Amino acid sequence: MKIDEIASIILRGGVAAFPTETVYGLGALAFNQDAVKKIFDLKGRPADNPLIVHISATEQLQQFSDHIPEPVLSLIKNFWPGPLTLIFKKKPDVPDAVSGGLETVAVRMPAHPLALKLISKTGPLVAPSANKSGRPSPTRAAHVYEDFGDDFPVLDGGETDIGLESTVLDVTSEPYTILRPGKAEPEELQHVCGVSVAYSTKEDTRPPKSPGLKYTHYKPQAKVQWLSDFVQPRNKPVMFITHTEPALPTGENIIHYSFKDDFVQLARNLYDLFRMADQKNIFEIVIEDLPDETGQPLVAALKNRIEKAVG
Ligand code: TXA
Ligand code: MG
Repeated sequence: MKIDEIASIILRGGVAAFPTETVYGLGALAFNQDAVKKIFDLKGRPADNPLIVHISATEQLQQFSDHIPEPVLSLIKNFWPGPLTLIFKKKPDVPDAVSGGLETVAVRMPAHPLALKLISKTGPLVAPSANKSGRPSPTRAAHVYEDFGDDFPVLDGGETDIGLESTVLDVTSEPYTILRPGKAEPEELQHVCGVSVAYSTKEDTRPPKSPGLKYTHYKPQAKVQWLSDFVQPRNKPVMFITHTEPALPTGENIIHYSFKDDFVQLARNLYDLFRMADQKNIFEIVIEDLPDETGQPLVAALKNRIEKAVG
């Protein structure tokens, strides 16, 4: 469907999926409570898991927050449009459905030209990843159809560039906290804004800052494990995903994807491989352990998503 038709469906209070540079999002008008509720219903998403508002121009941020800390202006300048979601104190008129009842709101400006064009026609959109809750985020239009059939239209922008969801950074208190690792990494964020940036720790016993963190995500049907924990194939289909050339079992039941130290490609393909494994009734997905210090982007985000799938 064409972008103008999609925009008019959204403007009438409907929903539609669109590509971003990270994953496909399921969009609805941020200030239309009924439209926002449709998203929760379609995804089967718990009502206390808030949504990210997507904007196409920095000025639109004023509609959602008037607490923009000074150092964050340089983050916005350097990282938007791009895969960085910022958590602000919200204005009172931001619908509760958007913020999941929290006092904060998540906002990002996506870098995909089709996303920016769509939002410039509709105004700010909430957009969770366009998958059913508990399924991997979609990196292709076909993934959206796989989960939802023709429940709503999809603006097809081909394969997404990054393949993993945006970094979520809480800037409501210092140090700024990464609630979800992504392509924008702590060192560069800290360097740009001059405020310390830390990963949220598991030891943190306060109520979950990001409600999404308490729900299971990214779990294919196959058992996912690290290569270092893998014992022996049991004559059932196994998918290996590697980045060096380790010795692997061979045989009819073995599928092997090799990424030769290209973590950007691995990130781009991870969710597609998870979905493929489901379709092929793969029994185990075995992923080669990732190195600690690579200096390469996306390794921390990959580790985080794979750990979640390992469970
Ligand atoms: O890359 C992305 O961010 C994609 C694309 C479509 O933009 N969107 C995405 O949305 O991943 P979703 O809804 O699948 O994940 C949003 C995450 C959830 O973990 C949610 O709990 C967290 O952001 N979040 C949203 N609002 C929040 C808030 N006010 N405070 C803390 N965490 C929040
Ligand atoms: Mg999601």
